[in-house]
Amino acid sequence: MEVRDRESAELIRSQVSQRRLPRGALRAALLRVPPAARDAWLDLVFEVDGLPDDGPELPRGCVPYLPCAVEVLLRAVQAAQIDADDVFVDVGSGTGRAAAAVHLLTGAEAIGLEVQPALVESARALAARLNVERVTTILGDAAELTGSMRAGSVFFFYCPFSGERLARVFAELEAIARQRPIRVCAVDLPLPQVPWLELAAPPSGDLAVYRSVTPASPGTARSRR
Ligand SMILES: C[S@@+](CC[C@H](N)C(=O)[O-])C[C@H]1O[C@@H](n2cnc3c(N)ncnc32)[C@H](O)[C@@H]1O
Repeated sequence: MEVRDRESAELIRSQVSQRRLPRGALRAALLRVPPAARDAWLDLVFEVDGLPDDGPELPRGCVPYLPCAVEVLLRAVQAAQIDADDVFVDVGSGTGRAAAAVHLLTGAEAIGLEVQPALVESARALAARLNVERVTTILGDAAELTGSMRAGSVFFFYCPFSGERLARVFAELEAIARQRPIRVCAVDLPLPQVPWLELAAPPSGDLAVYRSVTPASPGTARSRR
């Protein structure tokens, strides 16, 4: 990595840990790094080195840890129009990298749900290192943690699981969407076909972003964010 990029990573890390990161500074700094080096650059900011092993707690049929690419996170933030008023829920949050990145990019509160205890520990250690309060991680099977999703306004799925588990989580999202508009970001994951979600933007690569639509009542238009 270029010396200039190393220096910018150090500057951003120090601004984050001192809670002096100007709004928009992480995105601006990331965009100055060549695209192929952005993931390594973010890992430098987060002081993350290498991929953790998966543990025996990963249920059968669920997907092991793989961090989402920074490019995809940047596109998700834009397409879902995530801002500081949002609560971003990363369903299957691994080491908390995506949750922390989205929080720092947007100011949104971020909640990770993760089934592997060692990854939850890493995520909590990352939040402590970064000195961020509005990034938390809850340990458990996301399909059993639906109560913890209720505060969410944006839900992020980097293919943690599919099938019956995904259907259970979607039943909860539908209940939330009946109360208020939500967005759903899906990476590398075909979502169940449901009438209460529509594409918020044309799909881009592996990423599709949806927004909820509420069922029309007689004489009213469907509402959306
Ligand atoms: C492909 S990784 C994505 C990690 C993170 N969201 C990111 O984008 O960087 C999928 C993650 O989902 C977690 N996972 C799989 N099944 C899960 C479940 N039932 N409940 C909670 N987390 C789960 C895995 O342990 C893994 O960390």
